[in-house]
Amino acid sequence: MGSCGERKIFSEEQEALVIKSWSVMKKNAPDLAFKFFLKIFEIAPSAQKMFPFLRDSKVPLEQNPKLKPHALNVFTLTCESAVQLRKGGIAAAKESTMKRLGATHLKYGVLDEHFEVTKFALLETIKEGIPEMWSVEMKGAWAEAYDQLVSAIKAQMKP
Ligand code: HEM
Repeated sequence: MGSCGERKIFSEEQEALVIKSWSVMKKNAPDLAFKFFLKIFEIAPSAQKMFPFLRDSKVPLEQNPKLKPHALNVFTLTCESAVQLRKGGIAAAKESTMKRLGATHLKYGVLDEHFEVTKFALLETIKEGIPEMWSVEMKGAWAEAYDQLVSAIKAQMKP
C-alpha cells in the first residue's frame, strides 16, 4: 500500500530500535560518520563537487577535517527524526530547520539520486557499526526515519 502522500506509521518498536542503536553508535560517532561519508564518495565520486570545502581543498579527502560535521548532522537528524515521527511528524515540529535545510540543499544542487546514495551508505554504515544488533527490522526503522526526514527537506526545496 503506502499510496502517494500517505504518511506511513512509524511504530514504537521502530523508534526503540533507532534510539537503542544510536545510543551504542554514539560512542563511535565521529569515526562512523567519517566512514559514512567516504562511502558516499566511493559510490558517487562526483558528489564531492557539491561541497565547497572539498572542491577548493588541497588536502586529500580522507584528511579533510570538515567532512565529519555534515556526516554527523545526517546521523543525528535522522535519529531525531525517528523520535519526532512518534510525536506527529518532523515537518511540523521542525519547520524552520526544514526550511533552512531545503534552501541549503537546493542551493548546492543536491538531487534525488544523492539522497538515494546517501541512504544506501547510511544503512551500510549502521550495519557495519552494530553488526550484533543488525536486523531487517533495524534496517527498516532507519530507512523509514531517513525517508521521512528527506521528504520533509525535499518539500522545502522549492526555488
Ligand atoms: C549542508 C544536513 C543530505 C550535501 C548541510 C547542513 C546540514 C545538512 C545540517 C548544514 C547547513 C544547514 O544547516 O543548512 C543534511 C541532512 C541530510 C543531508 C539531514 C539527509 C537527511 C545531503 C546530501 C548531500 C548533501 C544527500 C549530497 C550528497 C550538502 C552540502 C551542504 C550541506 C553540499 C553545504 C556544505 C556544508 O555546509 O557542508 N546538510 N544533509 N546533504 N549538505 Fe546536507
